[in-house]
Amino acid sequence: MRIILVGLGALGQGLLTHLEAQQGRLLDQYGLRIKIVAALDSRGAVVQTSGVDPGALLRAKRSPGGLSTFQPRFRPGRRALEIIHTVEADTIVEVTPTNIVDGEPALSHIRGALKAGRHVATANKGPIVLAMDHLSDLAREHGVFLRFSGTVGGGTPMLDLARLSLRGEPITEIAGILNGTTNYILTRMAEGLEFDAALGEAKRLGYAEANPAYDIEGTDAAIKLTLLANWVMGAHLHVTDVSTQGMKGVTHADVERARAQGRVVKLVARFDGKRASVGPELLARDDALNVAGSLNAITYSTENVGPITLIGKGAGGPQTAAALLRDLIDIHLRSK
Ligand code: HSE
Repeated sequence: MRIILVGLGALGQGLLTHLEAQQGRLLDQYGLRIKIVAALDSRGAVVQTSGVDPGALLRAKRSPGGLSTFQPRFRPGRRALEIIHTVEADTIVEVTPTNIVDGEPALSHIRGALKAGRHVATANKGPIVLAMDHLSDLAREHGVFLRFSGTVGGGTPMLDLARLSLRGEPITEIAGILNGTTNYILTRMAEGLEFDAALGEAKRLGYAEANPAYDIEGTDAAIKLTLLANWVMGAHLHVTDVSTQGMKGVTHADVERARAQGRVVKLVARFDGKRASVGPELLARDDALNVAGSLNAITYSTENVGPITLIGKGAGGPQTAAALLRDLIDIHLRSK
């Protein structure tokens, strides 16, 4: 499979790391040989139709001079759409930062790729939450696959659990911890750290969005709740339908008070089929959603099986890149 990697932040680098480490396993287990024919960051593109070595690309990107040190293949100023239209490839991996206002530039990248008959794997929440139906239709029309399992839960397969493992089982309610950054900050605040220091750590660990206000103000959790409600429960929500309250108002005193009562403050996302909300809640310490650090958790209330809770790492480059890899394997197996 020839891929074009659009975006070389924590996620793009996470994918390169997995590809370097797992080349042999992918070939043995799935007959999948991934060839990176182009990779781009905001400065330009590396293009090599015979495929570039993921490890070499990673080292160049992480070197002081960045991607431009990947010579003689680096082409400064090249833009993704131009590369998507001119470099022969099977799949585009879109991992530029999420933009919830208009989904750009990712929306144009994904639309352009699908129209050009390329499969798309993305963890970019903006275009998927804004245009899921349109993009899915476009993929069908052009006979290609669009996969986005990393948009919710990072590497933890929350969408796949509901859509694939729970096939046929009506889901009546969703409740979850859907943002790793705020959960990490709340956990660290409960350990005595100040908000700013905890946010700094979350940024360094690669959990926070390029624009961390998305995390703190609850927007990221609202986006994920919208994706879940629409994809899993067939709702037609827009992010603005989610009554959203971030964690800005949560003080050290609140966290302490909760602790004294044997409870915890968590940023919880809920959808019961009618009302969608994100906001701080007091949970009992033994609540299934009381997970620590960057962990995410989701409880699906189902009609016949009762509540099912899935817990796992919800943020971070290598974790979310694992979802991209799953999507690439899925595309490979389905398009054979
Ligand atoms: N910023 C997001 C989070 C990344 O903290 O959960 C994963 O979507």
